[in-house]
Amino acid sequence: MQQIKEYIRDIADFPKEGIVFKDISPLLNHSDTFNRVIEMWKERYANRGIDTVVGVEARGFVFAAAVAYAIGAGCVMIRKPGKLPYKTFSKTYDLEYGTDTIEVHQDAIDPGQKVLVIDDVLATGGTMGAVLELLQDNFKCELVEVTFLMELSFLDGREKMKNIPTYSLISY
Ligand code: PRP
Repeated sequence: MQQIKEYIRDIADFPKEGIVFKDISPLLNHSDTFNRVIEMWKERYANRGIDTVVGVEARGFVFAAAVAYAIGAGCVMIRKPGKLPYKTFSKTYDLEYGTDTIEVHQDAIDPGQKVLVIDDVLATGGTMGAVLELLQDNFKCELVEVTFLMELSFLDGREKMKNIPTYSLISY
């Protein structure tokens, strides 16, 4: 775990003053560490019969695609509004100031499919909470687990995970 943390750097005052942003760019660009992270997920999920890995825009896509490939699953994108070309389901959720919306293609997941959901960071849980509601409201799938590279545990985002098993590779 320490090896992974060595490749995540703190950026002060990004995206706004007072926030310390955890930047995973060094990790993604260090082949041994990126490989190690994907292998850890592969060990956990390779034999769980997962059909589809759902990734959340934007950094979640990088991990979702690699894990989907590693475990022989398909990959689905949850995107910000207006980005997906086909018919979509959408979910609007509250932010500290204002709201945000996420979308998914209506034919993304078949009934009964086993789904793993991935994002890079669990912070307040607002984003992933909305993703899980979007999936639960519109698809009769089995949400096997929701997983993150890192969890900012002091923000208690885990409480918004709708009782779905939640697993983070590292925690701060
Ligand atoms: C970040 C991160 C998660 C979300 C976590 O995404 O990738 O999706 O915030 O925060 P939360 O738990 O408080 O909701 P961001 O909105 O920065 O989007 P990006 O990956 O497209 O830059």
